Amino acid sequence: MIPTKATRHVNQNEGLIFEKSSPGKAAYKLPPLDVPDVDAAKLLGAAYREDLGQMPEVSEIEIIRHFTRLSTWNYGVDTGMYPLGSCTMKYNPRVNEVVSRLEGLASSHPYQPEKISQGALLILKTLSECLTEITGFDAVTLQPAAGAHGELTGILLMRAYLESQGNPRKKILIPDSAHGTNPATAAIAGYAVENLKSNAAGMVDVPSLIAQTNEDVAGLMITNPNTLGVFEQEIKKIADILHAKGALLYTDGANMNALVGKAKPGAFGVDVMHLNLHKTFSTPHGGGGPGAGPVVCKKNLEPFLPVPVVVTRGDGTLAFDYDRPKAIGRVRAFYGNFGMLVRALAYILANGPDGLRQTTEDAVLNANYIRKKLEGYYDLPYKTPTMHEVVFSDRLQTKNGIKTGDIAKRLIDYGFHPYTVSFPLIVHGALMIEPTESESLEELDLFVEAMRAIAKECEQEPQTVLEAPHSTRVSRMDETMAARKPILRWKRAQQAAAD
Ligand SMILES: Cc1ncc(COP(=O)(O)O)c(C=O)c1O
Repeated sequence: MIPTKATRHVNQNEGLIFEKSSPGKAAYKLPPLDVPDVDAAKLLGAAYREDLGQMPEVSEIEIIRHFTRLSTWNYGVDTGMYPLGSCTMKYNPRVNEVVSRLEGLASSHPYQPEKISQGALLILKTLSECLTEITGFDAVTLQPAAGAHGELTGILLMRAYLESQGNPRKKILIPDSAHGTNPATAAIAGYAVENLKSNAAGMVDVPSLIAQTNEDVAGLMITNPNTLGVFEQEIKKIADILHAKGALLYTDGANMNALVGKAKPGAFGVDVMHLNLHKTFSTPHGGGGPGAGPVVCKKNLEPFLPVPVVVTRGDGTLAFDYDRPKAIGRVRAFYGNFGMLVRALAYILANGPDGLRQTTEDAVLNANYIRKKLEGYYDLPYKTPTMHEVVFSDRLQTKNGIKTGDIAKRLIDYGFHPYTVSFPLIVHGALMIEPTESESLEELDLFVEAMRAIAKECEQEPQTVLEAPHSTRVSRMDETMAARKPILRWKRAQQAAAD
């Protein structure tokens, strides 16, 4: 059965621009030369090049059509639902874009004197206040450029604080459900990483935490809600256990879109946390950035925040303060990704407290709708209440040799971007789905219909799923080869064969 939703590319067989080339074609026409000709070789010397290599020669309409067709191959959140769990691919309201492109903001220069940057400084200050209010912390840095960068900044703050107390430590504990950036961050910050196991409910196993927390432990990095979409219900107790041993609690706040307006991690005993503005506060996510990963912290960590910080002078004007002897230094040129900060503030102010709360409720409602509608069709390994994302496994499908990656590829034929495959690692064959609040009931129903149809195909015609996608120009790729030996440059077929 081919589904209601499936949308196909305008042209499935668009070739490479080099393949369209034929000698002598050009996308321009110049008027006859009416100035003296110059000897380019003489003028340019060694820089002169007669042989331009193999450049594509095409007409204007061919080049326009080629790139226009290619642009229709993009799948983005503007095309349809993008249910990548943990990535929060939500809709980015256009008003944020308009605001960030206002000339005074887009053209402001970081070397501009403070006196003519008061508006930009006020944006930084207001966003800082909003973020500390939303999260329940005392202070913030807006500098980090992404979530992982925020993690590093936060862990460096912890390290600086512990060292200042004459209490340096060696280890960071990290639950087995954590995002891969967490152990990478701890290791880069110079700590040994120790794994902490989850219990049957998908939460940190508190007896294990008690057993593993000793005077070597600098802290725990916990994600809440965690990557199973499960809220760590013992969070306050976890904080107390760590604090009692002189360790700190770091929270990966990348999933804050499940808590905004409902709960403040600062009240759970968390010492420091990063946010992914490009997940929670709508700024675009994907393509490697740019993003923003502000870090919020408690008063005791504030002196260590990166320089500069925005302060209000006695005369009421705003300024950057660089005179902070305990600061960990700079973590980013200038003041962070300013355009992202503008977008996040626009989003926060446009929604207001009620709008943000509604957004959180809708995100959680949508994930629970999907959970309810797909339970029974796919295995649900953890029955604990779902927050903003739901994690199934491929256990019911593997008997026919079908794995989560096959189901994801078949989803492309149904017109949807795949969900997150095989993550978190504690779920074997994970299907991680995060619909976000952006999706309407109608779109969710189309997604459910597609996922149910695929579950049926897995039973009745497994080959269709195993060979998917069928609707794309290129179907199955050798993913290991593509990762290990990527071919990033076009070469003529004969030349490639000769290599
Ligand atoms: C739970 C979690 N932590 C950390 C990160 C890292 O964030 P970034 O990709 O911005 O570095 C992500 C990414 O989405 C995440 O989902």
